[in-house]
Amino acid sequence: MTDNKKDNSKFTITTPLYYVNDIPHIGSAYTTIIADTIARCQKLQGYEVLLITGTDEHGQKIQRTAQNKGSEPQEYCDRIARSFRELWSILNIQYDRFSRTTDPRHHSIVKEFFQRVSSQGDIYLDQQQGWYCVACEEFKEERELLENGHCNIHTNQKAEWRDEANYFFRLSKYQEQLELLYQNNPDFIQPESRRNEVINFVKQGLKDFSISRVNLDWGFPVPNDPQHTIYVWFDALLGYITPLLEEAEEPTLENALAKWWPVNLHLIGKDILRFHAVYWPAMLLSAGLPLPEKVFGHGFLTKDGQKMGKSLGNTLDPFDLVNRYGSDAVRYYFVKEIELGKDGDFNETRFVNILNSDLANDLGNLLNRTLGMVQKYCKGQAPQLTLEDIDKGNRLRELGVNLSQEVIKGYQSLQLNQACEKVLNLIRASNKFIDESAPWSLYKQGKQSEVEHLLYAVLESVRLSAYLLSPIIPNISTSIYQQLGFTVNFNETAKLNQEIPFKLHSQWGTVPANLTLGKPEPVFLKLESPT
Ligand code: MSP
Repeated sequence: MTDNKKDNSKFTITTPLYYVNDIPHIGSAYTTIIADTIARCQKLQGYEVLLITGTDEHGQKIQRTAQNKGSEPQEYCDRIARSFRELWSILNIQYDRFSRTTDPRHHSIVKEFFQRVSSQGDIYLDQQQGWYCVACEEFKEERELLENGHCNIHTNQKAEWRDEANYFFRLSKYQEQLELLYQNNPDFIQPESRRNEVINFVKQGLKDFSISRVNLDWGFPVPNDPQHTIYVWFDALLGYITPLLEEAEEPTLENALAKWWPVNLHLIGKDILRFHAVYWPAMLLSAGLPLPEKVFGHGFLTKDGQKMGKSLGNTLDPFDLVNRYGSDAVRYYFVKEIELGKDGDFNETRFVNILNSDLANDLGNLLNRTLGMVQKYCKGQAPQLTLEDIDKGNRLRELGVNLSQEVIKGYQSLQLNQACEKVLNLIRASNKFIDESAPWSLYKQGKQSEVEHLLYAVLESVRLSAYLLSPIIPNISTSIYQQLGFTVNFNETAKLNQEIPFKLHSQWGTVPANLTLGKPEPVFLKLESPT
């Protein structure tokens, strides 16, 4: 079972499984938007993609929250899991599997995994003493805590002293193997700064960590010792494996790992890096399973330059944002404005300005004026030309021919904002090209062929831009493609490669140009500045 049989045409990507202690916040929306964008880019190229998201529902934090709300934990989890699905639906997230750690199938997978690790001699009973942050669901070293004993991440929560018998996982045994893993696979942890962070942490020496809790009901019992409940993180990480099962399949590790494992990319926030880049690979090594290809830890979002939090009263409600501005707008801002891996800020005035400038002005106007000219000067028919008809020195051809390669590389190397910027560069150059070559005056001078060559180059540039931005703004790209005379919908990703093959549509100047163009309609209405 340790062979990696997955073929290269498959791509598996995960978001974290979000805690259900509250309805989804903008941080969860951010990770999921990025994951969906990457998944859509892979689908565009014809990969078979599995995007997994879901909810992490066990543990003390969830049990207490449900209690405080006067709900049964399962009923409470069902309610919050539903609100995650609702947010993904309005954000136009095309997840393939929604993993819930309270799924009964998950229990079987956790049990089998626990037993495998145990049979390696990697689980033992001992006494755990230490400070536990319930909000992190993690033991903290005393030096990590603030002076008042509060957690340094959850500054409004006091860490709790624990002195109890726990089962431990023999993490220390994997020190060397992990160090080799990082050394031999420099891309395993990204970006570079996070990789260094992990390497330094591991260098200090790994301690075994406790994987069970007593006095906690909400979770799976430890096999053969039901007084103990499996630690929420041990259970949650395996929540990446259970959803790999097909619907009616028997829940065994072998079945789950047969098709989609290993994961190509675990996309997470920087605060949960240690669990994914140290604990998780060690657990998999112990169980004799192949390791994921990459863990990428993105940065944190702030609002108007300040840490977001309920105590500061400056949280950003993702439902409200999407309801006011639409899914494409929200997706575009977070992909374009934040360098993935760095912390990023949300400011509503900047949000409105960027969308107006990039989508309403640059892209929207480009389409609008181009279609208008084709109606007027070419009877609404796209000029019947091909790449060969366009001069090699044509600025748009120059920019267009290699664009797809660069942009796809940008997406795949997770430099999403750069990928986006490259497309915008073509869009802006197209507007400039129209201004400088003034087709209206050429038309007046009767230079029909010149006008057609020119408009062909611009049409191809708008089309290619819409195509390459479709993983980020699928609705706008669909509207552009439809106005250009195609019947495609970028949200119907399963059919995409048949209808508009990547080989043709990712290139500048190769799409058959015999289309009757549609009526120009604004693809993005200018937003009002916030008051
Ligand atoms: N349940 C665990 C993950 C288990 S994965 C097997 C968890 N859940 S969480 O809901 O607390 O956090 C989920 C993700 O949201 C993390 O990747 C975290 O980094 C991210 N974010 C939480 N606040 C954030 C911001 N303000 N900005 C960006 N992302 C942030 O941890």
